[in-house]
Amino acid sequence: MDDTIYIDHNATTPPLPEVIAAVCGAMGLTGANPSSVHANGRAARKLIEDARAAVATLVGAVPEEVVFTSGGSESNNTVIIGAGRRRILVPPTEHAAVLKTVLTRSVDSDLISIDHNGLVDIQGLEALLAESEEPALVCVMAANNETGVLQPMAEISELAHRHGALVHCDAVQAVGKIPVDVMTWGVDYLALSGHKIGGPQGIGSLVRCGDAPLSSLISGGGQEHGLRAGTENVAAISGLGVAAQIAADTLAEKSVRLKGYRDALEAGIKALSPTTMIFCEEAPRLPNTSNFTLPGVRSDRQLMALDLAGVSVSAGSACSAGKVEPSHVLDSMAVDPEISTTALRASFGWSSEAVDVDRFLDAWGDLARRESAGVLEEISAA
Ligand SMILES: Cc1ncc(COP(=O)(O)O)c(C=O)c1O
Repeated sequence: MDDTIYIDHNATTPPLPEVIAAVCGAMGLTGANPSSVHANGRAARKLIEDARAAVATLVGAVPEEVVFTSGGSESNNTVIIGAGRRRILVPPTEHAAVLKTVLTRSVDSDLISIDHNGLVDIQGLEALLAESEEPALVCVMAANNETGVLQPMAEISELAHRHGALVHCDAVQAVGKIPVDVMTWGVDYLALSGHKIGGPQGIGSLVRCGDAPLSSLISGGGQEHGLRAGTENVAAISGLGVAAQIAADTLAEKSVRLKGYRDALEAGIKALSPTTMIFCEEAPRLPNTSNFTLPGVRSDRQLMALDLAGVSVSAGSACSAGKVEPSHVLDSMAVDPEISTTALRASFGWSSEAVDVDRFLDAWGDLARRESAGVLEEISAA
């Protein structure tokens, strides 16, 4: 890219060079419909099946269980609408692709209670399952996109299955950052997205484990075992396959390296602003993600100052039309809006380097010093 520092991998991870090569190669190579029986069609089909095998390996599934979709949102929607369960249980910290879909499409939904870190309250879930008149679908994300908090998926699945419920896991942020294994977690469905693992945007997968019930969201041709109609996006699928392969090969190295950057960033911000708050610091978290505050300085103001200094991060709160709204995640963790509207999220990824941490701390430290000088001036003028 240019001279900017990109610490926003949970929003989109830039495509890996190998992925760009695979996408371009696939577009130039076949130009054929993968359902066609001729040689060109078979070449396109091979690219898809190679990618399916790579995605399956990454998450401990078998290739027949992998369905290609347009991304995490479609995968989540497909399960919520297509699993055939009327009663759906979901924590309030889910991504909108799950939460909004459940709350608008389910006829009988309930929110699962959480603790101050956003971790599912297991006893609360058990009570909801026990009082359900029909078997439910439980939707819980493996890793939160804003805080990085990791849910105890195996424990949740075991509990849900004891009550005849099905389990869907939005693993969009977990895949490629921590080991993900559908068998160990015991989930029935899992969603992942290409652009969170260095693959292309607009492509993802839904893993349907065993014979978990599922109907297609999009009707038409019989592609993807009848679970997702429409001619496959061969180039993007091929890119996703390459990203999945690289994610599996580099997982161990990357998680240690990225955790090093994240920990250095958190040590740095504590030194620069001793009143900073780091959300979910004591909870199990993704190694690459930090969500923290600069007390008294709204997220949008921080974002603008950092952007001017060439540093790209995200607000930990939602900014729209000049107004900063507390994030629904921090809000449901009962964080005071005065605090949550000053939150920023930094998320590292494959292209991150140690110098990114230094550049971030230089820019954020300047801002913290300017802001506290401004506050002191205001106090002395009053
Ligand atoms: C946890 C989570 N789920 C789902 C999605 C949606 O994925 P996609 O952009 O591929 O539709 C995102 C994207 O930010 C996410 O972070």
